[in-house]
Amino acid sequence: MANPQILFEPLLVGDISLPNRVLMAPLTRNRANGDGTVKEMHQTYYRQRASAGLIVSEATQISEMGKGYLDTPGIHTEAQAETWRKVVEAVHAGGGRIFCQLWHVGRISHVSLLPDGRDPVSSSAIRANTQTFTADGFENCSPPVALDDEGIAQTIADYTNAARMAEQAGFDGIEVHAANGYLLDQFLQDGVNTREDGYGGSIGNRMRLLEEVLGAIADFYPTGRTGVRLSPRGQANDIADSDPETLFGAVYEMLSDKSLAYLHVVEDFGSDGGRNPGDMIGRLRRKYDGVYIANGAFDAKSAATAIADGNADAVAFGRPFISNPDLPERYRTGAPLNPQDKDTFYGGDEKGYTDYPFLDR
Ligand code: FNR
Repeated sequence: MANPQILFEPLLVGDISLPNRVLMAPLTRNRANGDGTVKEMHQTYYRQRASAGLIVSEATQISEMGKGYLDTPGIHTEAQAETWRKVVEAVHAGGGRIFCQLWHVGRISHVSLLPDGRDPVSSSAIRANTQTFTADGFENCSPPVALDDEGIAQTIADYTNAARMAEQAGFDGIEVHAANGYLLDQFLQDGVNTREDGYGGSIGNRMRLLEEVLGAIADFYPTGRTGVRLSPRGQANDIADSDPETLFGAVYEMLSDKSLAYLHVVEDFGSDGGRNPGDMIGRLRRKYDGVYIANGAFDAKSAATAIADGNADAVAFGRPFISNPDLPERYRTGAPLNPQDKDTFYGGDEKGYTDYPFLDR
């Protein structure tokens, strides 16, 4: 069995040195203000978790059109950047590092969440067979319109603006959210992307928007401070591809060539009964040359084994970090974990957010 202490070996990720390999996965908590600014309790929440090797922020929309759920934060206005700056300062004061996860939901949205009641946008005009959370509770996603050339250019400009705002807020880096069936994934996967222009059809065309987005943020963050998140198994938000292994093999190779800070893969979204990533994830893994962060239903033991076996360089933990602000210390000492209160995962106040106890120190 792998020694859990391997989780506490430092790791160089792009330009940044991480003191441990227990990373905090991005976690939407739906507690932002209606204008996309974050609150004082966000400073507390993130600072409490500053012992993570790296924190990836909750998904943060790049524009008003990128929003798909109630009370998620943005990073496209000066006011939003100013509130995030206080979060980043709190994490730094606690000795941590934090990347901003840049998010555009594409078709996973509802007209009531978008400016002037506009329709959501996507690669193609195909409605997602899933729900989102609005002021009226869970509702079916609204039918999207396909982005035209002008819409694509605007979206890329929105990513540039968001990267600029993230830099202004002082984030240590950017994670481009290309996972879980959101906009960039809606371009990658042919279950949604049926375009016949330069952004659809061949794998090269379907990867184009992701590549252009990476180019757009490079003005503000060098590749050594930029990561990408993917979910090749397509377990969320009604996303699918006819040949995911070939598609994502090509995406991994394209990203390898860019010398990014890291590739972050959701290997198993949401299993409650142990990890089951499947064979494809292991085969794809070998196509990526660079720092590889694995995520999904890991515990200290399976994370240490993945790193010892060379299947990951670091592991991101989602749900365990919600209920354990001092997760690295608990893994280091073998201390028990706090139970999770699923009722307070999404929305609400400090309860289930900043009140999970630390180990007695
Ligand atoms: C998530 N997940 C997620 N993923 C992402 O890329 N951006 C996000 O904002 C969120 N938000 C989010 C909120 C909540 C409450 C949960 C439970 C999950 C997915 C998350 O990062 C992770 O991939 C999964 O939770 C699986 O990892 P764990 O929890 O088994 O370690």
